[in-house]
Amino acid sequence: MQIETIPTTPYNDQNPGTSGLRKKVKVFQQPGYLENFVQSIFDSLGDISNKTLVLGGDGRYFNRVAIQIIIKMAAANGFGELIIGQGGLLSTPAASNIIRKYQAFGGLILSASHNPGGPDEDFGIKYNVSNGGPASETYTEAFYERSQAITEYKTANLQDIDLDSIGSQQIGTIKITIIDPVSDYAELMQSIFDFNLLKQSISSGYITLLFDAMSAITGPYAKRILVDILGASPESVINAEPLEDFGGHHPDPNLAHAHELAELMFSEKAPTFGAASDGDGDRNMITGSNIFVTPSDSLAILAANAHLIPAYSKGLSGVARSMPTSQAVDRVAAKYNIPCYETPTGWKFFGNLLDEGKITLCGEESFGTGSDHVREKDGLWAVLFWLNLIAVRRQPVIDIVHDHWQKFGRDIYCRHDYEAVETPIANSIVEDLRKQLPTLPGQTFGEYTVKYADEFCYEDSIDGSISKNQGIRIGFENGSRIVFRLSGTGTVGATLRIYIERFEHDASQHNQDAQIALAFLIDLAEQLCEVKKRTGRTEPDVIT
Ligand code: G1P
Ligand code: ZN
Repeated sequence: MQIETIPTTPYNDQNPGTSGLRKKVKVFQQPGYLENFVQSIFDSLGDISNKTLVLGGDGRYFNRVAIQIIIKMAAANGFGELIIGQGGLLSTPAASNIIRKYQAFGGLILSASHNPGGPDEDFGIKYNVSNGGPASETYTEAFYERSQAITEYKTANLQDIDLDSIGSQQIGTIKITIIDPVSDYAELMQSIFDFNLLKQSISSGYITLLFDAMSAITGPYAKRILVDILGASPESVINAEPLEDFGGHHPDPNLAHAHELAELMFSEKAPTFGAASDGDGDRNMITGSNIFVTPSDSLAILAANAHLIPAYSKGLSGVARSMPTSQAVDRVAAKYNIPCYETPTGWKFFGNLLDEGKITLCGEESFGTGSDHVREKDGLWAVLFWLNLIAVRRQPVIDIVHDHWQKFGRDIYCRHDYEAVETPIANSIVEDLRKQLPTLPGQTFGEYTVKYADEFCYEDSIDGSISKNQGIRIGFENGSRIVFRLSGTGTVGATLRIYIERFEHDASQHNQDAQIALAFLIDLAEQLCEVKKRTGRTEPDVIT
């Protein structure tokens, strides 16, 4: 195996965001762009000789090309083994599981999650550490710093590897193992949920379901688990073939993008349960006949019912949510007397809490829920959790949700996204909000009096690291909140996210449409940030 050292010059934009480095495919296709970033990661990891690296992605355009490049670089940089999903495919939660199960040193996951794919769309890469979770900011800052000083990268002069044939081969100093991307994950799911009960509930017709894989990575996982193992009909999984461009759609599971599913679930033909996942399989959208479950509610409901699931029957050690996620799960934690942590946006902030056993379940309002079974959020896991719950409680989704609200009250919630805002405008919106913060506490708007107004700063209770500027929060005396933050995953301009919530205790008021119930706070948010005024827009691009 001949190793070549190729001279290179730094690119100045290789700063990872909320979840790895995401850019347009065209950016990644620039000479040395991917190579620089991968070498910067390898250079920052310490001793990697003879270590095992897991490699796979969501199958989007450029996935296979990138995998071949990384194989050669991993070989040249001294890794001892590569474990790669067949076809270069691994869902993000499955990759996390493989890293943990095979005690790998780490993994490279190729994905831009829910962003569109194709030659003119997005690509991404992120590094996960040995616990299976996304690298912390200490790592990602080191990758970026290294990328600014890089002068060369190493690659091995190898033939392309056949990614489609399962098995191991030794090439020079590196062993390359191609594995079935689904089996280990399917096994893990069977160790968590009651598969016998699920099989019965599906074969008896008590549960009918539809899963929309959105032409992304979860197709093969859903077909194996839901159809082959649990016996759901083959038509239960739609858009099951992973496509390089996701069929031209946003593989983002929300009511806007999973509209085929959404329409059916609000029709007379709706099955008991409907769900969708995203590009890389870590997000989930949960619906039942005539109901959409907000991710924040879903997290709270899973927490409140976890004892009904075999793996969590002994109860939860604690729960966590990202700061903009609604406070619904906090109410469950308070009732069960377990700790509830509030972390910045991004799954990496849950890693330490999970590793230390301080939490069992966690989630984000952005359609992410997960547990200590891996160190990523997990779309199909959430789907199986809900199915298991429906099977045990023998209640439709709508009743499970309404019961929950009755018991805990409802945190009415929505998020408004303004996408591709010109970066200077977005920055000035945030700066001007920041300036208003000291003057807001004590001010009253209608029936809302501001209790606190600050910028969220998180101190990790385990490693003491501090993450500043994690979103602007305006909290009211009655528990309502407005949160503003800029996205860290977009690739065009800036995306302003506005998160709004209000607690409603009165059950007679629970069946309101969130946009109507939150209208006052939505207007107030505009009054405070003036995004419509400054951008000339009349409405958000996406409402979830
Ligand atoms: C978004 C979500 C965040 C999630 C991340 C990765 O990040 O808001 O909760 O962890 O995608 O899936 P953002 O674009 O807001 O930085
Ligand atoms: Zn994702």
